[in-house]
Amino acid sequence: MTSPIIYATPGALATAAAELFVQRARDAIADHGRFAVALSGGSTPKAMYQRLAEHPLSHEVDWTHVQVFWGDERAVPPDHHESNYLMAQQALLEEVPISSAQIHRIRGELPPDEAADDYEAVLRAFFRGTRPRFDLLLLGMGDDGHTASLFPGTAALDEAERWVVANYVPKLADWRITLTLPTINAAACVAFLVAGEAKAERLAEVLNGPRDPHRLPAQAIQPTDGELLWLVDQAAAAGL
Ligand code: 6PG
Repeated sequence: MTSPIIYATPGALATAAAELFVQRARDAIADHGRFAVALSGGSTPKAMYQRLAEHPLSHEVDWTHVQVFWGDERAVPPDHHESNYLMAQQALLEEVPISSAQIHRIRGELPPDEAADDYEAVLRAFFRGTRPRFDLLLLGMGDDGHTASLFPGTAALDEAERWVVANYVPKLADWRITLTLPTINAAACVAFLVAGEAKAERLAEVLNGPRDPHRLPAQAIQPTDGELLWLVDQAAAAGL
């Protein structure tokens, strides 16, 4: 497993993640003319988006060549307070010069299977039928070891063909829409952002414990031809 990069505070982690976004956007745009990024929900990414929306970092991104996607979504409409789209919209996308045509959200207001089909069709059109290779895919990790909406023991963990699925999560008694493992693992760079002492024990287990990806889905993230980064704060790293 990759060694995590440890930051003293959640704020330093958010700034470093925002700088990573800036650098990867610059590299991808120079290399192939666009930056396809998949955003995550969660509190740690939110702090990063807020950094990115501020001067000076916001001015260091050529937003005209950025294409925004999401790794997962809750089964809610885009104006719902639990929507990952709404969070990113308010923390970042409203604040920067990006057009709605560059923002590709998961339509959580649809029935979950339809939302998954719809989003997979969006990805197929954008990536011209080949499995998505995001330039940067951001992930959080829950204190149960879930990532994106791949929760322990759920069916989506076994999906090998589909790019996106609706995943029923018994512990939430609700549906989520999520990228599948092969799709996430096809990214050029996957970056986990993990902060807070509540994550410490699970992070140690994910990074240093025996491999059991059905119980610890974050362990299943292993890009096949890409980079894996773990950006964590000191509190989350306490058990390492
Ligand atoms: C979601 C996220 C999810 C999140 C983790 C960690 O939709 O909830 O995509 O996978 O990243 O639950 O969230 P925190 O950063 O808030 O702890």
